[in-house]
Order: sequence, then structure tokens, then C-alpha cells
Amino acid sequence: MKILSGIQPSGELHIGNYFGMIKRMVENQDRGELYAFIVNYHAMTSLSDGKALRENTMNAAINMLSLGIDPNKAIFWVQSDLPEVLELYWILSNFTPMGLLERAHSFKDKTARGIAANHGLFSYPVLMAADILLFNADIVPVGKDQIQHLEMTRDIAQKFNNKYGEIFKMPEASIDEEVAVVLGLDGQKMSKSYQNTIEIFCDEKTLKKRVNSIVTDSTPVEDPKDAEKCNVFAISKLFYDKDELASLKARYEKGGEGYGIFKSELKDRIWSYFEPYREKREYYLNHKDEVRDILKSGAERARERAMPIIEKVRTVTGII
Ligand code: ADP
Ligand code: TRP
Repeated sequence: MKILSGIQPSGELHIGNYFGMIKRMVENQDRGELYAFIVNYHAMTSLSDGKALRENTMNAAINMLSLGIDPNKAIFWVQSDLPEVLELYWILSNFTPMGLLERAHSFKDKTARGIAANHGLFSYPVLMAADILLFNADIVPVGKDQIQHLEMTRDIAQKFNNKYGEIFKMPEASIDEEVAVVLGLDGQKMSKSYQNTIEIFCDEKTLKKRVNSIVTDSTPVEDPKDAEKCNVFAISKLFYDKDELASLKARYEKGGEGYGIFKSELKDRIWSYFEPYREKREYYLNHKDEVRDILKSGAERARERAMPIIEKVRTVTGII
């Protein structure tokens, strides 16, 4: 089974990214053949600073390797190291009705927010379809916001197959309903756009500051507190096991302890949870050549798998 995931090289990672996506991706390495790649071409739709894109791409690679992508298990590369994807993107463009792209929620949302529409943003879903169909992926684990892009991929693949026969497999989206939305410091969805995040790789002082700024109510120290309404408790759920949560909840209900204590314990827990990942990251930051080698050999392995498909596509479409 081929499982495929594209990763945006966007800025610092927060614990919402980790529990919402990365942890699951790492687990997928043992469920099938994982194809994981950093979508730097897609990132151009929102980033035009070359230096920043180059740095973000390297950073994303280092972060994913540190958090558990294992190059011996997964095929891990940078999208632009396999320019065949752009060839397929063009070919698929000829099987993509304008109306399909015009209905895309993400395009409509972005333009509604005032982002200037250009062709890159408009045709983003075709490039994503090329990412997926270039490998005939079976499963694409995505968040709810990406479901429509998967439907578009299937539509485009179907149009192509209708013309040329069964070249592409229909990929399935896999939505993990169990993965809850991780809440941020203010109780809204944790997101870098809301500035309510806890970064995975910040220093200890910053982590302390962030955890201390989790919004709590003004229940006096001695009073019982409602754990289920508490933002500190909500985040604690990610880091404590069942028994620990039960005893933490009992302490909330008993009263006599302020939120400061719960925050300080949570901070220590988050810090130690990510300790091994920080160490790995330190290693990769000091061994960037090794990271480049990993990406290069990932791209070679990806190309080996893509070639038979792209060659079939060239043959049926008459591209010589
Ligand atoms: P942000 O909202 O901070 O911009 P992204 O949109 O870059 O985050 O998300 C990257 C990945 O992390 C996506 O797969 C998304 O589903 C996941 N993710 C982001 N925030 C959360 C969250 N608060 N809870 C669960 N998953 C999240
Ligand atoms: N559009 C995806 C996102 O914003 C990223 C992406 C690009 C992707 N190509 C992909 C995801 C292929 C899965 C498969 O998160």
C-alpha cells in the first residue's frame, strides 16, 4: 500500500502540527510504503522570498527527520528534486475543467481574504493531483480542509483515464476522525495565524512563557476547578496518560492548587516529551550535508517509482 503525504515548508512547527499530522505520518511508516515530500513548489503560492523558501525547505526537512521520519523506511524528498511532477501537472491541466478549479474552497477563501489571485494559486490543486498521481498513491492522509483537493485529484484522474484507459489509480483520502483539533493558548484551534501556539522547538524559557500565557479563569486557588473547561487541562491531555489525567482531574476538583502549578508541571512534561527530538535536531542542524544526502537519495528512489508512470503517460498522450 502506498501512502503519500505532502508537507508544506511553512515556518516553525507547533504541537498542533505534531499531534494533528506529523505523529500520524511517522506511524504510517509502519503501515505501508510512505512517500513523504516537502512541497516547495506549492509554497511558492504564498512565499516569494527565495532565501526564506530555501531556508524553510531545509528546516522542514530537518524537523521532519528529527520528529521521526526514518529515511530507511520512508521515501523522503523535496518536491522540486523531481521536476517530472511539473510535466505531469501540465499534462493534467489539459484534463482539468476551469469550473472544477473555480469551485475550489481554498482558492475562494484565499481570494476572499484579499490574497491576489494568480495562476499558481488557481492551479494549485492540479499540482497536488500530479503529486499524487505520479506515484499512483493508494492513500493520502489529509486534514478536512484538503478533502476537496483529493476529490479534484480523482476527477482529473478519471477524465484522463476516460480518454486513455486505466493509467491512474483512484487515490483515497484518509481522514483520521480520532485526531482531535489541538487547542491553543486561548482555547481556539491552535494555529500560527492566531498566534496561540506552543512551538515544538523553542527554548525552555520561551516554552515556560508560552505555557504561562495559557488563558485560565479567575477561580481562587482554594476553590474546586472544572478541568474540562480548562485550557491547561486540554493541552495536558496530549502529554499525560489516562491515570495521570484522572489524578490531575481529581486535584482540580479538590481545590487548593492554583493554575500556576498545573502550568509548571505541563511545561516540564512538554519539555521532556520533545527532548529526544531536540537532540536529533541538534544533530541534523550540525550535519546538513547528511540531510542533503538523505533528500537526494530519497529523490532517486522516488524517481525510480515515478518513471514507469510518467513514461506510460508520455506514451499515451503522444509526448516523445
Ligand atoms: P497552521 O494552522 O498553524 O497554519 P498548517 O495549516 O500549516 O497549520 O497545518 C499543517 C498540518 O498540521 C495540517 O495537516 C493540519 O491539519 C495540522 N494542524 C495544524 N493545526 C492543527 C491543530 N490545531 N490541531 C490538529 N492538527 C493541526
Ligand atoms: N495541499 C497540502 C496542504 O496544504 C499539501 C500538499 C501538496 C499535499 N501536495 C500534496 C498533501 C499531496 C498531500 C498529498 O497541506
